[in-house]
Amino acid sequence: QGRIYRAGVFGHRPVVPVEPAALEAAAQRRMSPQAWSYVAGSAGQQHTARANLAAFDRHRIVPRMLVDVEERDTSVELFGRRLPAPLLFAPIGVLEMAHREAERAVAEAARTLGLPMVISTQGSLPMEETAAALGDSPRWYQLYWSRDDDVVDSFVARAEAIGSEAIVVTLDTHVLGWRTRDLDVAYLPFARAEGIAQYTSDPAFRRLVEARAQTPSEEPTPRPTVSAVKALVSMARHYPGDLWTNLRSPLPRAAVETFLDVFSRSSLTWDDLATLRERTSLPIVLKGIQDPRDAALALEHGVDGIVVSNHGGRQVDGAIGSLDALPGVVEEVDGRIPVLFDSGVRSGADAFKALALGARAVLVGRPWVYGLALAGADGARTVMEHLWAELDLTMALSGVSSVDQISRDLLA
Ligand code: FNR
Repeated sequence: QGRIYRAGVFGHRPVVPVEPAALEAAAQRRMSPQAWSYVAGSAGQQHTARANLAAFDRHRIVPRMLVDVEERDTSVELFGRRLPAPLLFAPIGVLEMAHREAERAVAEAARTLGLPMVISTQGSLPMEETAAALGDSPRWYQLYWSRDDDVVDSFVARAEAIGSEAIVVTLDTHVLGWRTRDLDVAYLPFARAEGIAQYTSDPAFRRLVEARAQTPSEEPTPRPTVSAVKALVSMARHYPGDLWTNLRSPLPRAAVETFLDVFSRSSLTWDDLATLRERTSLPIVLKGIQDPRDAALALEHGVDGIVVSNHGGRQVDGAIGSLDALPGVVEEVDGRIPVLFDSGVRSGADAFKALALGARAVLVGRPWVYGLALAGADGARTVMEHLWAELDLTMALSGVSSVDQISRDLLA
């Protein structure tokens, strides 16, 4: 944080606002209403989103004094790799909504910082392009378990081929949450096939699309309404793609319909995890665990890690704040596998609290998406850098010099 402060003292303003509320407000001004409602919005009445933030507010740090913290180390080890900080870029889909450079910009930010990027299945770019932009930097792959086995096989094989160091299976999105704001702006972010090139670039998925294009659907697709067309036009500045083709071409339509059919599998159960184990030898991390009983089942089924998460409040409205779910899961797991955390981290101090409650590392979602929307790769990097700097500073001020010293007895 020394460099950031020195720059400030000499009058250099950061490329994005430092204060989380100001960052959010600036991003809202920049983004189209459709992109904003998709990124910032949560489920239903936004109860869970508020609960996530409120949980952080209820935990308070109690700093210790007169400890030598001159030398500090923010690094942690995860799955055999030492990371410079316990911070990851959470998997975020359809990033094209925020910035035309989408994953390419995020990969550049992640590479500059050396922090892992969790690549979303719902990516706007094929994962191979994202991987190229990541260079040697660590990457994990987030899997939405498709209804179609060939698509699952293909995604997992591609994830291995791009050097993913873990497969993160997101469990909480087997159906999409009740996204009130998205419904109100009448815009489904997946309505553009180009927005989900992760799928449209996939050979197994393309075969399904071609099969569908041969057999016209009996159910008529609703024609785009005037407001949907307006929405697409207003997003055109984020979407360099051919708007007209997108509205008319039968291929994107077949792709979108296929996507909606196969992106998830709500019949998935614990027993299916064995088939993933057969498909890959990479560490398997389950994202979306909130109940200690599910943590126990995860251990029983031999997974390698857990992310306590409620998807940033985007799935169940009225769910437990994610930070409130963390201690129970940590207690159940009892150090046998790493427990990671996300949903509601807005600052380095927040990250500190989650680490104090037993998380090995935290995933950050919306904050860097706002940075991306405002200033591309620079913006995403700066947001994570600020989080990292504040974490380091909070450690210093609380009297700890390494991440493993951030313990629960530093919280009230
Ligand atoms: C997400 N999230 C998500 N998770 C996932 O596993 N795959 C995905 O494709 C997406 N896509 C996505 C898009 C957007 C716009 C958001 C805001 C979130 C959830 C994400 O990984 C993470 O769990 C939350 O974002 C964490 O909450 P915060 O940090 O946003 O509060």
